[in-house]
Amino acid sequence: MSEEPVSAKPVMGAAANTGAVPALACRGVVKRFGALAAVDGVDLVVPKGQTLGIGGPNGAGKTTFFDLISGLTPVSEGQIDFMGEPIVGQAPHRLCQRGLARTFQLNSGFDNLTVYENVLAAQAFGRRSAGGWVLTRKADRDAARAVLADIGLEEIAEDRVAGIPVLARKKLMVATALVNEPDILLLDEPVGGLTPPEIEEFIALMLDLKTRGMTLVFIEHVMHFLMAVADRAVIMHQGAIIYDGAPEGLRRDRLVAEVYLGTGALEAAP
Ligand SMILES: Nc1ncnc2c1ncn2[C@@H]1O[C@H](COP(=O)(O)OP(=O)(O)O)[C@@H](O)[C@H]1O
Ligand SMILES: [Mg+2]
Repeated sequence: MSEEPVSAKPVMGAAANTGAVPALACRGVVKRFGALAAVDGVDLVVPKGQTLGIGGPNGAGKTTFFDLISGLTPVSEGQIDFMGEPIVGQAPHRLCQRGLARTFQLNSGFDNLTVYENVLAAQAFGRRSAGGWVLTRKADRDAARAVLADIGLEEIAEDRVAGIPVLARKKLMVATALVNEPDILLLDEPVGGLTPPEIEEFIALMLDLKTRGMTLVFIEHVMHFLMAVADRAVIMHQGAIIYDGAPEGLRRDRLVAEVYLGTGALEAAP
């Protein structure tokens, strides 16, 4: 019993060779909460291997946009393709099994499990789960250990998550996503609440993921992080994209400055 089209795997394989099929393609995506269009007609194509940073003020619709892509919130209008296949209407765990992973703005995780157990739990919902069974095969345990070592959490692998620092929690969210070997990783404010040295550590982690060819889409207010990591920047405002281009161009963009600093800010500036 499978809802997955028989063609899904060959399509992905072919795309990996040619690079023709984007990792993500959104067309006319709208989300309404009553009268409010939290996401208001977003068109966005993310090629494989790209690192895209999404900025914008609070309430711009960034998290809601991620919720639509990852299947947590139903789409009001529009289409979303992941690796060339339509995904609107699919459940989040199904998308995770297909290789779409995300992290959350607020730290998620099972507080009463250890760091290692959290990574095992994540495997139960991902590609290794083979239909939802909680597996404890040696290969899976090894994969969990390898991810923790990779991300620098091996020393606290047996600690209960309730007691670990914020940076470790943020890294753990990435580890639980990576253990399922995603094709795309969505990160919602990965460095929110971190200190400047911790942000530098996270930048190094992201750059490492980039060199492995991972497609990354992240939401982040911290401009230094966005400039250091992203190949491309998108700014959202009132549910729409108001800037899409090089991160370096953000500083010169009039509309972006007005959204962040207020109308007339540029005229007022010396
Ligand atoms: N479940 C919901 N019900 C009603 N309004 C919501 C809901 N989720 C988000 N919103 C509203 O949608 C807008 C966008 O929110 P959000 O996507 O969280 O913004 P951002 O992540 O850019 O700060 C906000 O005005 C927010 O209050
Ligand atoms: Mg948000």
